[in-house]
Amino acid sequence: MDTPILDFVRAYAQSGTVRAHMPGHKGRGPLGIEALDLTEIQGADSLYEADGIIRRSEENASRLFGSRMTLYSTEGSSLCIRAMLLTAWKEGKKRGLAPVLLAGRNVHKTVLSAACLLDFDIAWLYGAGETCLSARPDEAEIAAALSRMDPKPFALYLTSPDYLGGMADIGSAAKVCAEFGVPLLVDNAHGAYLRFLSPSLHPLSLGAQMCCDSAHKTLPALTGAAYLHAGGWPGLTVREVRENMALFGSTSPSYLTLASLDGVNGLLAGDWSEKLSRFCLRLTCLKLELFRAGWALYDSDPLRLTLWASESGYRGDELAGILRQKGIECEFADPDFTVLMLSPGQEEDDFRIGRTLLSIPIRKSLEHTPPPVQRGKKACSIREAMLAPSEAVPAEKALGRILAAPCVSCPPAVPILICGELVTKEAIDAFKYYGIRTLSVVREG
Ligand SMILES: Cc1ncc(COP(=O)(O)O)c(C=O)c1O
Repeated sequence: MDTPILDFVRAYAQSGTVRAHMPGHKGRGPLGIEALDLTEIQGADSLYEADGIIRRSEENASRLFGSRMTLYSTEGSSLCIRAMLLTAWKEGKKRGLAPVLLAGRNVHKTVLSAACLLDFDIAWLYGAGETCLSARPDEAEIAAALSRMDPKPFALYLTSPDYLGGMADIGSAAKVCAEFGVPLLVDNAHGAYLRFLSPSLHPLSLGAQMCCDSAHKTLPALTGAAYLHAGGWPGLTVREVRENMALFGSTSPSYLTLASLDGVNGLLAGDWSEKLSRFCLRLTCLKLELFRAGWALYDSDPLRLTLWASESGYRGDELAGILRQKGIECEFADPDFTVLMLSPGQEEDDFRIGRTLLSIPIRKSLEHTPPPVQRGKKACSIREAMLAPSEAVPAEKALGRILAAPCVSCPPAVPILICGELVTKEAIDAFKYYGIRTLSVVREG
């Protein structure tokens, strides 16, 4: 598969051309990779009006992912999510659907910023999630919600895999959505690689209309690299989706990130799938070994090792600390879970993760369990709350106030309470459980 962006930036870096254009580093600097970092010079194409090397590269990605269209983002899935929601919201308007999104409660906080900017409401599905990070609504819950809603929501939105690696049943959700004439959107930020499993578990392969994938989370791509894919969505054009991306995106996309996405196409078209399947097999064996040794594991997607640390006698963040001291840095930890994200990019020596965990004694499980998922009471719309003047108050002084901002950092950036909901005693306890001591609330008076 050709790699037109990578070829272009490499050729330009070697050409000795005088750079009388941005960026200011002029191809030299402390990182050593500045020469590959360009701007929209002649021949470099332009992300939001792509008709040259970027378009060719996106078409290659689209073939690899089996999508009707794939657009690049250099601002992560965060940008793709806003553009995806805008696309569905506009399409819904044309078809008389309500400005309401039906969504699993474990959305990334970007969904709230989209709801604020576009002024749509969200109806929540809670599923059988163990924590606020997980919500896996089943077919029956989705069908019940869709049959209650009249007019229908402009989309169903699911996050899968979630931060713990929990996978929703996208195939069943797609069937229910088709019955009700509602498009299915998937936040597949953590699952770009699912396309390269055999069989593919990628949301588009399972019937979703659109999804975002962060290439940088599970594929060998630079931070910020992501795709917005659209599958079978009648009448939708690349031009429209590109305009929707442009509404939220920077006019200075990183060429390093674009070249990275382009180079990844070359890798994916090669033997990456075989490497992935060998790696997944090895990781499955490791999980089995840890399970046999007594470690409590959370049922996660194939490239993740999620330890239910509290069940094995450790706080999740305590276990992450122990691993850090032994030279292993995890992706994420909270009071209950320790999450390791792995990929075929690991080296042989990295498998000492297994030996290290096996050398740590399992203890009696801790008493605590994650707080229940909050079913907040809505006081105003997300937009009203997020655009209102706000103030920061200690969590214990926020009782009865309206939450103004999500107040959760990344990772995992999954809201505990939704902006516009009233802060309850249970919500305060949940915030404190996750170490959040200050809340942003709507100013009164
Ligand atoms: C579930 C989920 N969706 C979306 C995002 C945003 O992705 P990105 O960092 O690529 O913007 C994240 C980030 O961690 C995430 O965990």
